Amino acid sequence: MRASQSGRVDGEQLRDHIAVELARARARTALLTEVVDDADLTRQHSPLMSPLVWDLAHVGNQEELWLVRDVGGREPVRCDIDELYDAFKQPRRDRPALPLLPPAEARAYLATVRDKVHDLLDAVTFTERPLVADGFAFGMIVQHEQQHDETMLATHQLRSGPAVLHAPAPPESSVRVGAEVLVPAGEFTMGTDTDPWALDNERPAHRVDLPAYVIDAAPVTNGQYAAFIADGGYTEQRWWSAAGWEHRVREQLSAPMHWRSDGDDWSYRRFGQWARVRADEPVVHVCWYEAQAYAAWAGKRLPTEAEWEKAARWDPTTGRSRRYPWGDDDPTEAHANLDQRHLRPAPVGAYPAGASPLGVHQLIGDVWEWTSTAFGGHPGFAAFPYREYSEVFFGGDYRVLRGGSFGTDRSACRGTFRNWDYPIRRQIFSGFRCARDARPDESYR
Ligand SMILES: [Fe+2]
Repeated sequence: MRASQSGRVDGEQLRDHIAVELARARARTALLTEVVDDADLTRQHSPLMSPLVWDLAHVGNQEELWLVRDVGGREPVRCDIDELYDAFKQPRRDRPALPLLPPAEARAYLATVRDKVHDLLDAVTFTERPLVADGFAFGMIVQHEQQHDETMLATHQLRSGPAVLHAPAPPESSVRVGAEVLVPAGEFTMGTDTDPWALDNERPAHRVDLPAYVIDAAPVTNGQYAAFIADGGYTEQRWWSAAGWEHRVREQLSAPMHWRSDGDDWSYRRFGQWARVRADEPVVHVCWYEAQAYAAWAGKRLPTEAEWEKAARWDPTTGRSRRYPWGDDDPTEAHANLDQRHLRPAPVGAYPAGASPLGVHQLIGDVWEWTSTAFGGHPGFAAFPYREYSEVFFGGDYRVLRGGSFGTDRSACRGTFRNWDYPIRRQIFSGFRCARDARPDESYR
């Protein structure tokens, strides 16, 4: 959804848009939680993840807190469960032991909350109050549910047992993609002031000046990553940072998560099914330390977050930053592998229409891309609507990931969207691309 020329979104159009987005999120939540039985829903599939039934009721509880109670000023539906579904009070590993709502009760709770939200949406006026201007709180709740849908998809990837999720294959490659792209030195606008549903950590827009650099035209593929493994990448300490090596040894990492060695070949398990690793797909399920080691082996480094964003958004013709690599319009099926349409990354060259003006491919969708940058606020950052959304994570050991994955919904992915996680995490749909400083003979101003 884009703001109009006046900078505001039309009220009736906005109401319809919110209703559609709420319904899309709920349909996906329903799909992800109805393909398994109650025992599966309440079980913890990995200590890294919540039982699916926790995510389910948590989605409803956040919707109740922000929309029913705060925006609507209505009576609580269930204030007795707020503690149970507070992500800050309940660490993931402890969630299975909590007296959680059983699946049927959780579903009934979500339906009750959603009914109240529809009543509210019919009557709400999108005033200048920051929480309701441009429907922000509704947009925040849509994105929150979609983010949990991606988390639930990651839980599905970790569960054992026969496959329950099925999706068509992504498009095949239709264009040859070069190796690297030179990004000339100069300023660009990072972040946004105008994207109506952008979250606090994407704001404000600010100018950033970068020296010339070179960035990979596509994410690192399985084939490239397998060459790193075959060349002793996991056994040679010199490619790894001290912390990365210590982690690699302790966890005995020897390949991306979900990979299995079949002699000279590799297989991976995806949502309960084994398949041969495809060389031309972006590698996924690697942690930041692995990405960093690969980049060192390749004679490169990870891009900074600003380098990633300039490659994705900067238009050399106009000098302005686009919402997405292809322009300002919302993503379609031709632009990017998003929305859980395909349950795996697409081969390099599958989305020529989604390339940036400089010719950088698949920045949006496919795999989250690790950057070298620690998570923090843009200059002039102001927490909104609450510190716990982003600010409490600043300054920690989190690294920024950009661009979204095949598991990310289009409502929760923009050229400015920022994700963050610990450098050891790889149950998320994380991959990367490399960058390097431009050589003097390559750079120009
Ligand atoms: Fe949450």
